[in-house]
Amino acid sequence: MADEFRALVLDEAEKVVSASIQQLTDDQLPEGDVTVAISHSTLNYKDGMVLKGIGRLVRNYPHVPGIDFAGTVESSESASYKAGDKVVLTGWRVGEAHWGGYAQKARVKSDWLVPLPEMMTEKRSMAIGTAGFTAMLAVMELEAHGITPDSGPVLVTGANGGVGGVAIGILAGCGYEVHASTGRPQLADHLKSIGANEIIPREELDVVPERPLASERWAGVVDAVGGNTLASILPQMKYRGAVAACGLAGGVDLNSTVIPFLLRGVKLLGIDSVMCPFDQRKAAWQRLATDLSVESLDALTEVVSLDKLPELAGKILKGETRGRIVVDLNK
Ligand SMILES: NC(=O)c1ccc[n+]([C@@H]2O[C@H](COP(=O)([O-])OP(=O)(O)OC[C@H]3O[C@@H](n4cnc5c(N)ncnc54)[C@H](OP(=O)(O)O)[C@@H]3O)[C@@H](O)[C@H]2O)c1
Repeated sequence: MADEFRALVLDEAEKVVSASIQQLTDDQLPEGDVTVAISHSTLNYKDGMVLKGIGRLVRNYPHVPGIDFAGTVESSESASYKAGDKVVLTGWRVGEAHWGGYAQKARVKSDWLVPLPEMMTEKRSMAIGTAGFTAMLAVMELEAHGITPDSGPVLVTGANGGVGGVAIGILAGCGYEVHASTGRPQLADHLKSIGANEIIPREELDVVPERPLASERWAGVVDAVGGNTLASILPQMKYRGAVAACGLAGGVDLNSTVIPFLLRGVKLLGIDSVMCPFDQRKAAWQRLATDLSVESLDALTEVVSLDKLPELAGKILKGETRGRIVVDLNK
């Protein structure tokens, strides 16, 4: 049939979630005013959770996962888009509450889409993906709170992950001295090749801090880890430094005191990519088109087909993947 397309579909039976590649038809697509022919999606940490049925992020099965995608508008009932427009989508609980990007087609609300910046390919936008978009939001938030390359070194935690790797590339490209914290020191050469100046072993930060204040080390932080790591970072911030908290790879608790906020004016900035307003999304994608070097991104990116995702989902949850995994829907 002409309107058939391929999708990775999750089903649940007796509380066990399983994945299969299926042929779907247009009449199975959900409601929405724009239909997109998807060329690329990605694997993010949250996709790993959805694919393994962890955290009850998905309530209704069968379900098409994939929290982000890029492609070409096939048909549109919205004045904002026309057939042939290139678009990118992250967030809005697509791939969780709504059908997502692990299919050759999606139908979504036009408000969720962002026009793909000129000069950026769909593949490149998904090499950036939700993780890279989040890293950009974090850097923009640090800048909005006064952090510049002259303020001092900026730390990136979870450095070998998707958020971490793109954050390193952006910060290095903007002239920052970048410190990278990782549990995989064997990948130090790779981190240096994408812009890290100093490598900090994960164990050094993954401890309960002994004192509310310690020597001042960092002007800014992009933290993808949370937990003890974030608690250890706060006492080590420079005066008026800022921490962009965007992840929980190391835990959800924050065992800290308020002393760094009160005596050093440290700012703790929450980063949410999911419901981020359109104007900020558009600005972040424009910055990503100009501030992230192609070389640094290529070094971070692996391209896979849909059928590899269930296996890779287990790996991303164990912190065993590196950088960004792009899904080519036509592979
Ligand atoms: N706020 C938002 O809107 C938003 C958006 C996207 C992602 N996130 C969150 O950001 C985090 C990173 O996402 P991602 O896509 O970059 O995931 P990822 O590719 O899996 O990277 C996470 C990295 O964290 C480190 N890590 C893993 N387990 C750890 C542990 N137990 N303790 C300390 N470090 C650990 C690893 O880096 P090393 O091997 O270098 O140590 C790993 O590569 C996730 O928690 C994700 O949910 C939030």
